[in-house]
Amino acid sequence: MEISNKRVLITGGSSGIGLALAQALGAVGASIVISGRRPEALEQAVGHLSDAGVFAVSVVADVATEAGRNITVTRAVDALGGIDILVNNAGAVRAGRLEKTSEAEIRAMIEVDLIAPILLTRSALPILRRTGDALVINVASGIALIGMPFYTTYAAAEAGLSRFGEALRRELRDEGVRVMTVYPGATETPMMITSRAGPDLGFMREPASAVADAIAEGIRTDAFEVVRGGDSRAQMIALNRDDPEALDRRFAGMKQKLEDAVRDHTAL
Ligand SMILES: NC(=O)c1ccc[n+]([C@@H]2O[C@H](COP(=O)([O-])OP(=O)(O)OC[C@H]3O[C@@H](n4cnc5c(N)ncnc54)[C@H](OP(=O)(O)O)[C@@H]3O)[C@@H](O)[C@H]2O)c1
Repeated sequence: MEISNKRVLITGGSSGIGLALAQALGAVGASIVISGRRPEALEQAVGHLSDAGVFAVSVVADVATEAGRNITVTRAVDALGGIDILVNNAGAVRAGRLEKTSEAEIRAMIEVDLIAPILLTRSALPILRRTGDALVINVASGIALIGMPFYTTYAAAEAGLSRFGEALRRELRDEGVRVMTVYPGATETPMMITSRAGPDLGFMREPASAVADAIAEGIRTDAFEVVRGGDSRAQMIALNRDDPEALDRRFAGMKQKLEDAVRDHTAL
């Protein structure tokens, strides 16, 4: 798909991967609406985008609520006249042992990481269909492909999002709306500030701009998935498929260190 002149709605576009993607797509002529809950962060992000010559508008809305989703879609259509690309990017995480994770935290993750993208996509589909050549991008996580200890609920939500996208891609085939799933590895964004997991534990962080550039390339080449994390992550994904027990043993060897490093990892 050619990116220039596309009308793009990015949820959670005020920081991290969402903002980097707004910059990457805006730089090649897309018009952008970004959403988020914090007005100041959005104002700043729109300022950066506008300074770079990008047509960008924001909407303050919680995508985990019905009212927030309605405002998000309405504002995007009002500002852009339609939507060609919907990016379900807003997300949240709370790591740590399952027994130490509250019900409220579990529900919050599933609401924003899984239910919100499904319901927002459902609302936006009639608008996306109007263009005849539209795209839904779901930003999942590498943890959707490898169940990482201490990320049980996040893994469940992201794996759910991955399968949602795969099923929807097949459901919409030849109907003018394609679906892409993105699996970022560890990425240097505000979401990772509270994680102390580094390369020794398999968390090799890359800048958000690298993920954004890969997504832009995926759009151009009509890819149905973008997997980040480099060769080591690709080997882990293959091992998880071919010999999951071997990966169990590898995680067992680093369990205590990993638990210590991620016990405070929260961005809800
Ligand atoms: N960073 C990583 O290592 C990594 C790895 C794998 C996958 N991912 C995924 O990548 C996506 C983007 O994450 P990021 O790392 O770029 O995080 P980030 O920098 O923390 O950005 C998250 C964005 O989502 C918004 N957001 C959060 N909850 C929202 C809600 N309920 N309604 C509307 N907006 C909401 C945030 O703004 P407000 O707080 O103002 O609402 C912010 O704009 C997420 O889906 C995440 O799961 C990230």
